[in-house]
Amino acid sequence: MRSLLLSTLLTTLLISIGATAAADEGDDALQPSARFSVYGHGAAATPPMGWNPWNAFRTEVTQARMLSVVDAIQQRGLQRAGYTYINIDDGWWLRRRVDGGIDIRTRMFPIAASADGGSSLRAWTDGLHARGFKAGLYTDVGANACSQAFDRHSPNLPVGSIAERGIGLQGFEASDLKTMFQDWGFDYLKVDACGLADFGPGSEPVRESGLAINRPVIVRGDAEATDRRAVETRYARVGRLLAGLNPDNDYVLSICPWGEAGVRDWGGRHGNMWRTSPDIEPTWESMLHNFDSAARRELYAGPGRWNDPDMLAIGLGEFDADHLAEARTHFSLWAMLAAPLLMGFDVSTASNALIDILANPEVIAVNQDAAGNQATLAVDGPALQVLVKPLASHGERALLLFNRGDAPATATVDAAQMKLAGDTLTHVRDLWRHEDLDVRQPLTFRLAPRETRLLKVVGTPVRGNATLLSEMTARIHVAADGLPTYATPRDADIGTPRADHSPEGKPLRIASTDYAYGIGAHAQSRLEVATRGEFQRFAAHVGMQQSDQPGTGRVVFRVFGDGRLLHETRAVGALDAPLPLDVDVDGVQVMELVAATSGDTSDGVPAAIVWGDALLRGGAAR
Ligand code: GAL
Repeated sequence: MRSLLLSTLLTTLLISIGATAAADEGDDALQPSARFSVYGHGAAATPPMGWNPWNAFRTEVTQARMLSVVDAIQQRGLQRAGYTYINIDDGWWLRRRVDGGIDIRTRMFPIAASADGGSSLRAWTDGLHARGFKAGLYTDVGANACSQAFDRHSPNLPVGSIAERGIGLQGFEASDLKTMFQDWGFDYLKVDACGLADFGPGSEPVRESGLAINRPVIVRGDAEATDRRAVETRYARVGRLLAGLNPDNDYVLSICPWGEAGVRDWGGRHGNMWRTSPDIEPTWESMLHNFDSAARRELYAGPGRWNDPDMLAIGLGEFDADHLAEARTHFSLWAMLAAPLLMGFDVSTASNALIDILANPEVIAVNQDAAGNQATLAVDGPALQVLVKPLASHGERALLLFNRGDAPATATVDAAQMKLAGDTLTHVRDLWRHEDLDVRQPLTFRLAPRETRLLKVVGTPVRGNATLLSEMTARIHVAADGLPTYATPRDADIGTPRADHSPEGKPLRIASTDYAYGIGAHAQSRLEVATRGEFQRFAAHVGMQQSDQPGTGRVVFRVFGDGRLLHETRAVGALDAPLPLDVDVDGVQVMELVAATSGDTSDGVPAAIVWGDALLRGGAAR
């Protein structure tokens, strides 16, 4: 009797403790998950490659135009080079039927007309599949699509009543996705978000086109007014439905809220790629802007989940046949970011020089490298940048020297910046010139404005047989970043967890000790690392990032292995020396690194912390 009472009391106590923890989301996020919590579905082990008609044809997309591009992609060697997905974008729909189905605009896609007067894109996908391609389609997570907001004078918009023009997924998620994947046989879906952003009360499309009012849950450029949970919930549902509809896993889910709604945090949990920025335009400025939107997000990408700075603008505007240096630079940058490579111009009219750029096998191999690491910025100047991408093969790195400025500049890179040991460089290859270069250290190149050198280098990894966490970023998942939920990629001064930098982009530094390598984050963060039983020990020097205005907060560092606490430090303050850790992680599948504030930290953003020289011993992952 007494023990029953005791256990009831205990249970009540535990439940109430659990309830308090759940109520405080911040602390909850620091609990170990014992898993690598990424999407884990779909066929995007390497970044998807293909073609999308939007920037070439907008809503003037027709079957004939698409097929002439498909022919060119096949005949001119681009399919062989890896461009597989042929995606239809906005503009394919005619109306939502009363029975809930969608009619296709068969005037533009005659192949979709069925004998019974209905329409289906099955013959379209069958045709592509028969030619060895995969087929992609486009929809919106809200009720209406972007063309209905931004291309309102197009003759090819959905027609009919308000309900008939509601061609987005909202309210039709399960049936539309079933139609697209099971009946029509698509392999890829881009899910846009204008329906959640651009059809509010009083908005132009609602006033002028009489579309249904949809309370915006995305307020573009205003992270605080955006209801990111509502946006995430919608996409999470699409992700779950697609996983259920595709038992063979042969599909890609492309999430398209243009870097809004905190998608950087949750894109990789619900889909295979997510836009980090507004639409690319074929200008140098726009390309740089989109590159920048993804360039410091190296801890968010990896096999199955990619930062998407939008389609390639190659073949258009400042990246056309008269701007081959710019085209090569753009392609090199996307290759280093491990970004999806989706061409976006009328390939049927491409010059040979443009085809040579897009089909360069050595550059594509960098993008498609099996390790899936996104490059890290080793040098991040206003004009010169150097990116380093550790490749799957031991000691190999892709290296990009980039002059984004208007004047010629000299770029120099030493072994340490390539994460290679002293004089161990054995091989340097120029991936655009297709030639091996003399091995000289440091590597020095004169670069014209907007020019890049893309190299593959081989040497001995800087920590020998140990692997730095910043050499295996694809195996890290940022489960909690410690930032207030309204912080977005636009808040450049706050920053997210980074490889080899503090979140603000500074060198890692604890009490005057510098760390060339490591992970910088904020407190209240949790990183999941896919160790997969390949390592024996985890070592690091931890502490708070040195700052000009040291706070009074203290931080505790914890290392978990498969959900079990393996190590916990004492609370350290801003002026404390680095604490060395050396933790047994033998057999651990998922290691988790938690930095938790201890005691009262009232100031808004938690302090920056450092996992200095964080590395795993006893394996050969990168
Ligand atoms: C935008 C999207 C573009 C294109 C367009 C279609 O929101 O970012 O890539 O799909 O909609 O209207």
